[in-house]
Amino acid sequence: MKVVNIGTGYVGLNTAAALAWIGHDVACVDIDESKINSLKNGVAPIREEGLDDLIKNTKIKFTTDLVEVINDAEVIFIAVGTPSLPNGHANLDYVHSAANSIGNLINPTHDVTIIVKSTVPIGVNSSIEDSIRNQVKLNNLNDSLLHFASNPEFLREGCALSDTLYPDRIVIGTNDNTAFEMMSKLYAPLVDQTFTIPDSVQPPKDRPKTYILHTNQTSAEMIKYSSNVFLALKISYINEISSLCDKLGANVDDVAKGMGLDHRIAPYFLNSGLGWGGSCFPKDTLALLQIAKDQQCDTPIIQAAWYVNEAQIDKVINKLKYEFYDLHGLNVTLFGLTFKPNTDDVRNSPAVALAKRLIELGVHVTFTDPVGLPNARKVYADEQFKFEDDPIKASLDSDCIILTTEWKQFKSLDYKAISNNMRHKFMIDARHYLNSEYINDVGIKYIKL
Ligand code: UDX
Repeated sequence: MKVVNIGTGYVGLNTAAALAWIGHDVACVDIDESKINSLKNGVAPIREEGLDDLIKNTKIKFTTDLVEVINDAEVIFIAVGTPSLPNGHANLDYVHSAANSIGNLINPTHDVTIIVKSTVPIGVNSSIEDSIRNQVKLNNLNDSLLHFASNPEFLREGCALSDTLYPDRIVIGTNDNTAFEMMSKLYAPLVDQTFTIPDSVQPPKDRPKTYILHTNQTSAEMIKYSSNVFLALKISYINEISSLCDKLGANVDDVAKGMGLDHRIAPYFLNSGLGWGGSCFPKDTLALLQIAKDQQCDTPIIQAAWYVNEAQIDKVINKLKYEFYDLHGLNVTLFGLTFKPNTDDVRNSPAVALAKRLIELGVHVTFTDPVGLPNARKVYADEQFKFEDDPIKASLDSDCIILTTEWKQFKSLDYKAISNNMRHKFMIDARHYLNSEYINDVGIKYIKL
């Protein structure tokens, strides 16, 4: 099928690459010329496992000019960002601007389904449909060949292509049968797994067959928010249990394992630590809280998830104060800056939230990260953070190392050399990730968050 995808961020670009790989004819549009130029040269502006390979081995057309491609399209995805506004609402400027461009430029001569993949608050799909239809009618064109659907994404950064090529479920929110049929056709190669498996993106073991769930638009919008926020509160729950385990002398990792062995609970998203960050969980939790507030609906569980997540930073500070009492003048090295491993995304990282608090308390903060530092040097140029590529050098004169992101590179470091470099030999593993015996053996006092 002929697909146009508007937006080349994590969602848009990975969706476009996956759809091209399974055999569709894909054009990708973005207003950012530098991104499009880089993509035309085969260089993805984001780091994602397998993405360069799929872009190189497919024929995606990259352009800044929607008019070049829009009228051939059978399917148009809106996959632009919806960042948080200061009041917690999602910023819909990019979504509206994409919808305006479609409304102004489209001249429907065959069935076209317009799909909202961006995460948008409840009701926005229907207002986008209204605005595009109105614009088409204002241009004296017929809107009867236009169809609309909400199709939320569930891809995780770091394994975005795997999540897209081998999804658990595809949610199609529409009351329009043509839209549903067109989308079923679009996704059939994924559901039936009839495409060639790319070497760079292998299927996960024991994956279930992809389930297509057909709902109305509002339910699809709600599925997206409630899924992300449920995962966030699952993590906050284990973090709250972790605080209690600390007091009682229980091992939270064993507790999480014991809980996860119950198939109703499952082991995923039960890793206790510094808490959740990134560009989705904080934004979607805030947005859902705002949506509920607008409906005058109490959501104490969601509020608690947010509160517990913020309190993880206090937990680290308290552990530092217990060890040092006065934090002023301490050298603290943070192992990990990205919001999770296997991504170069440094936005909304809990490690950065921690670093900012430490700076307020008079601590000197040095970051090391195997992948995130080039982005961080740009994004956090105004912060008083130091950046050091080599973890051993980053530990020089350090009073404490805090493991803030569970990069596998941090498992195999020469901790003997690190220990020799430290001024005070203390480590907080805020991701419950390292081998405590080894760290203790090299003379570093090791505790978990
Ligand atoms: C998330 C959703 O998982 C995905 O389905 C959605 O479409 C986009 O948002 P992503 O933000 O890429 O994906 O990251 P994810 O792997 O979900 O992790 C989010 C945060 O939770 C990270 O900061 C991570 O470190 C933290 N986390 C995750 C934990 O603290 N403990 C866990 O057990 C799992």
